[in-house]
Amino acid sequence: MKHIKLLALSGSLRQASYNSAVLEALKIIAPAHIEIVMGNIADLPLFNPDRESEVIPALETLKSILAQASGLIIASPEYAHGISGPMKNALDWLVSGDEFPHKPIMLINTSPRASHAQESLREVLITMSGDIIESACVSVPLLGSGLDKNGIIVNAEISHALQTALNEFCQKISL
Ligand SMILES: Cc1cc2nc3c(=O)[nH]c(=O)nc-3n(C[C@H](O)[C@H](O)[C@H](O)COP(=O)(O)O)c2cc1C
Repeated sequence: MKHIKLLALSGSLRQASYNSAVLEALKIIAPAHIEIVMGNIADLPLFNPDRESEVIPALETLKSILAQASGLIIASPEYAHGISGPMKNALDWLVSGDEFPHKPIMLINTSPRASHAQESLREVLITMSGDIIESACVSVPLLGSGLDKNGIIVNAEISHALQTALNEFCQKISL
């Protein structure tokens, strides 16, 4: 099978984040030919257009992985009905580069009640010319579940939903 590399970004910096855990779980349950690389957005400075000509190591690394990736997977929480600050910050840094436009995107929503941030995130991603693969977007009810990465992996229903969405994403990417 053809090797597929994907970049995964969590919009939460929290140690016990459900959004980070779901991506770590997906990385483990993914078939061998699908490589999921966790991106680091925590070390990006606050977005400042005046600094766009600077070499910022965390940004260079992120852009390089994104350029090599066939697709992007985002799991990001809602804060006060909005996109998480770290995620919006990372996306703002990627707006003017050529790595992001037309990149296929899979969205994982770990809290089905959090509709405002998902809508807002979609609007931002579309504005940045990202290609959201709707049939690969998945909602898994992790908020309040107490599940960590391993708990997600052994939860048959959630694991199956994630695998199905990932397979759909990779099929669409490979067309
Ligand atoms: C300051 C703050 C504001 C929040 N606002 C919302 C909100 O508006 N809507 C919502 O559904 N959840 C809200 N939440 C809940 C988070 O989205 C939820 O805890 C989520 O799991 C955090 O993501 P993480 O587990 O990946 O860190 C808020 C949490 C915090 C700490």
